[in-house]
Amino acid sequence: MRAVAVFPRDRQVRVIDHPEPQIESPTQAKVRMINVGVCGTDKEIVAFEYGDPPAGSDYLVIGHESLGEVVETGPDVKNLRRGDLVVATVRRPCPHPECIACRQGRQDFCYTGDFTERGIKQRHGYMTELVVEEERYLNKVPATLRDVAVLVEPLTIAEKGLAQLLEIQKRLPWGCDESGRPTQHCHNCVVLGAGPVGLLGAMAFTVAGFNVTVYSRTQSHGDKDDIVSAIGAQFIAAEDHTVEQMAQMVGRIDVVYEAVGASALAFEVVQYLGANAAFIFTGVPGRKAPVPVDTDRIMRDMVLENQLIYGTVNAPPESFAAAIRDIGIFTQQWPDAVRGIITGRFPIERALEPLTGHTGGIKNIITLAS
Ligand code: BGC
Ligand code: ZN
Repeated sequence: MRAVAVFPRDRQVRVIDHPEPQIESPTQAKVRMINVGVCGTDKEIVAFEYGDPPAGSDYLVIGHESLGEVVETGPDVKNLRRGDLVVATVRRPCPHPECIACRQGRQDFCYTGDFTERGIKQRHGYMTELVVEEERYLNKVPATLRDVAVLVEPLTIAEKGLAQLLEIQKRLPWGCDESGRPTQHCHNCVVLGAGPVGLLGAMAFTVAGFNVTVYSRTQSHGDKDDIVSAIGAQFIAAEDHTVEQMAQMVGRIDVVYEAVGASALAFEVVQYLGANAAFIFTGVPGRKAPVPVDTDRIMRDMVLENQLIYGTVNAPPESFAAAIRDIGIFTQQWPDAVRGIITGRFPIERALEPLTGHTGGIKNIITLAS
């Protein structure tokens, strides 16, 4: 069967013939891939900056943002049937008995770093025709979400970030000054970036009750702005407004959801955080030259205003469940905006076009079956 593979040693990426996987344990299912998303991580892997093949293989089949259909189940698979749609999780636990996170199924918090990730680190991924996986790593998706469910995995980043935010902000137990809001924290959220992670995050924070502003370098006209307006959020174009002007327009910033991976911008925005605010880092910047930052000001403000910054990576099954639920809510509330995030669909033969990056658009996906 066909698969998109990267050969780091030969510095090559191509569509290869890859052996069809077989069910090897009674709790596994075989899944026919329908859609696989292309993200920044994939682009880094095909640029040979990231990613590792499985032990003993000279190539890695890439792809970790999946949607597939179950075609076969082992005898002990309990909740999946042929025809069910599923989105697979990405990370698999490390082998060390002392890693309490992995031992509890929370490899997204792995202590040792020896986890594996499908399509990224030492395990083949999903940009291929058929995949075999344990039932516990497959998340069932309603059939009505077939056309957008490939967005579930990139949405899990916001879902895990939000779940932690709600835990952390339990430290503010009096609720927000805006009465009637359900949770403990206040509600002005700035999303940095209007790529797929930023736009999906803007939707998730809106559904969670935040007043969302998206600050992005995107021109203020065009699809991204339309999507932001459709969800009732505010779009501020970075070309026309400095960070300081943006901060004035927003008022007190309670949460920042960073989705660009630009550290200079992130640390500039840190300086405008409100009292008791949280800043969520999700981007993975490439290593460039050092950037000057006013560390005294940042540290002073962080202490005097009880602020915190946290990074978040990967996601547990709960975040997949939350993402599946939210994608359903998004498609009810803003069907065109959600579909508008997927701007390019490519057959596997043309996978290198979005992967090597001159196609533009928001989210490009590979279509393997309809
Ligand atoms: C994936 C995560 C993964 C991370 C680091 C992201 O693109 O969505 O599942 O943990 O890359 O490899
Ligand atoms: Zn990704």
